[in-house]
Amino acid sequence: MRWEGGVSRRGLLVAQAVLTFASTAADAQEGGTSRMKGSKTLVAYLTRSGNTRVIADTLHRALNADLFEIRPARPYPEDYEQHVAQATRERDGGFVPPLAAKVETISGYDEIFLGFPIWGETAPPPIRSFLTAHDLQGKTLRPFITHGGYGVGDNLSVLASQAKGARIQAPFVMEADQERRTLNEINGWLGRIRG
Ligand SMILES: Cc1cc2nc3c(=O)[nH]c(=O)nc-3n(C[C@H](O)[C@H](O)[C@H](O)COP(=O)(O)O)c2cc1C
Repeated sequence: MRWEGGVSRRGLLVAQAVLTFASTAADAQEGGTSRMKGSKTLVAYLTRSGNTRVIADTLHRALNADLFEIRPARPYPEDYEQHVAQATRERDGGFVPPLAAKVETISGYDEIFLGFPIWGETAPPPIRSFLTAHDLQGKTLRPFITHGGYGVGDNLSVLASQAKGARIQAPFVMEADQERRTLNEINGWLGRIRG
């Protein structure tokens, strides 16, 4: 079975509530690097609905590593269906979106944990931006990837071709809740109680 983008119309009913939660969590980060004294390890991650952030925060605390949230300069639509459509267009057009911020001190890290969700069966466009914007030559790159049940797609070849000179390690891969499934479940419930 393949990933199918988009949600049912009814899914949009509750998208706002779910996204308000997601953006509240994101606002606490402020986009810059959160530093631990003298750390040579960076955890950089992209998230929309928070699954990948749970892993990133855990690594940050367990390893005393610095933490950086990858954000595009222009945020994706809050509406899930619009987000999927935009991400699909960007993927198909090979678009590399500008980032809100770069890691200014990337040369100080030996090891980078890079986390992201699978979007449209590949690495999200902002991950391509991150790999293009930073020199990872000679660094150990440890990917951690979440997906909604359809696997990691072609992203390992994306990493190999874009993280030039990095020592790419076997990824940590985890299936995590899919926002679309959550929206459909909640809308089923709303349909039952509101008809
Ligand atoms: C734009 C978009 C595209 C997605 N495409 C896929 C996909 O191709 N395959 C898949 O298994 N899950 C897909 N998903 C689901 C996410 O990969 C999965 O829910 C992930 O854990 C979300 O991580 P996050 O909470 O850190 O954003 C997609 C989600 C979004 C928003």
